[in-house]
Amino acid sequence: MGSKNEERHYKIAVIPGDGTGPEVIAEGVKVLEAASQRYGFKLDFVKYDFGGERYLKTGETLPDSVLEELKTFDAIYLGAIGHPDVPPGVLERGILLKIRFELDQYINLRPVKLYPGVWTPLKDKEPQDIDFVVVRENTEGLYCGAGGFLRKGTSQEVAVQESINTRYGVERCIRFAFEYTRKRAKDKRLTLCGKTNVLTYAFNLWERVFNEVAKEYPDITTDYAHVDATCMWMVKNPEWFDVIVTDNMFGDIITDLGAMIQGGMGIAAGGNLNPQGVSMFEPIGGSAPKYTGKNVINPLAAISAGMMMLEYLGEEEAAGKIESAVMEVTGKKLKSLAAGKMGYSTTQVGDMVAEYTALDKISLP
Ligand code: IPM
Ligand code: MN
Repeated sequence: MGSKNEERHYKIAVIPGDGTGPEVIAEGVKVLEAASQRYGFKLDFVKYDFGGERYLKTGETLPDSVLEELKTFDAIYLGAIGHPDVPPGVLERGILLKIRFELDQYINLRPVKLYPGVWTPLKDKEPQDIDFVVVRENTEGLYCGAGGFLRKGTSQEVAVQESINTRYGVERCIRFAFEYTRKRAKDKRLTLCGKTNVLTYAFNLWERVFNEVAKEYPDITTDYAHVDATCMWMVKNPEWFDVIVTDNMFGDIITDLGAMIQGGMGIAAGGNLNPQGVSMFEPIGGSAPKYTGKNVINPLAAISAGMMMLEYLGEEEAAGKIESAVMEVTGKKLKSLAAGKMGYSTTQVGDMVAEYTALDKISLP
């Protein structure tokens, strides 16, 4: 998947965003810089101030001209979007979803991995039991904004919200998932998560495409689970999963459950990928307004998003080193992943990860 460019010089657009976004992104940048020094590649960061504050001041979410500019970068590194004074949907649709859709980032990749020393609410589950990846379709389904009102505001009001599933969109997502499962080479098992018993049009298409594409991947074991059952298995037997592929809405829901079983929003990261274009990497937790400016939020999710970005850019060795550094910190240092309960500040956690990333070998006292 890596697309290492020859000069190993990468231009990164940074959108720290709202709330604790800037604090965690600062730690992520710190770690990325340590990695670039240690592994000999170059990173240029260009910062953009889009988010709730800017919207409240100027009424602007993300101008089309900037969208064009974003297309010239090697990757985008995003903090968090969401502001308590801005009505729900404005920033999500105007910034986050706009980038995902306009840059055609059709895959949302969300690893669910329990690191050493991290508390999981699942009793008796260990790091080896919780290690799978969700491939979420990221440009279609219920997120298209297709639908509307009839007789709005009356007692006969009708609201329609349609799930759009195209053969093209479903197929490219499923193909990505098969390729990813092969490359990941863990159990080589891909599970389609759907709802074929009720959503008999949308998931019928998904199922047919899945079975068709599967024929080209005899080395991959395929499996199917309804979305409700997927939730059940994620809690009861997460070790059964290797890679899960699903639509936009189900992927959104099951990856929050995934984030919880891997230790919470302090650690969960994701990539919005356009394998032929510009991809964006983000911690999946929100802007956490109540912790803003207190230096208590956990930066590991943002650091992990940065790690995914390097891996995607082809700097796999550096990415691996950051992951080992994160594991050292979760395994041997942090008391908890929760904001304010880590036993360290945001900046101290970033310092530790950066320091271990820069070492030749990690060896902690
Ligand atoms: C996510 C978020 C977004 C989504 C919101 C903020 C629009 O929940 O990245 O999972 O629903 O995709
Ligand atoms: Mn979500």
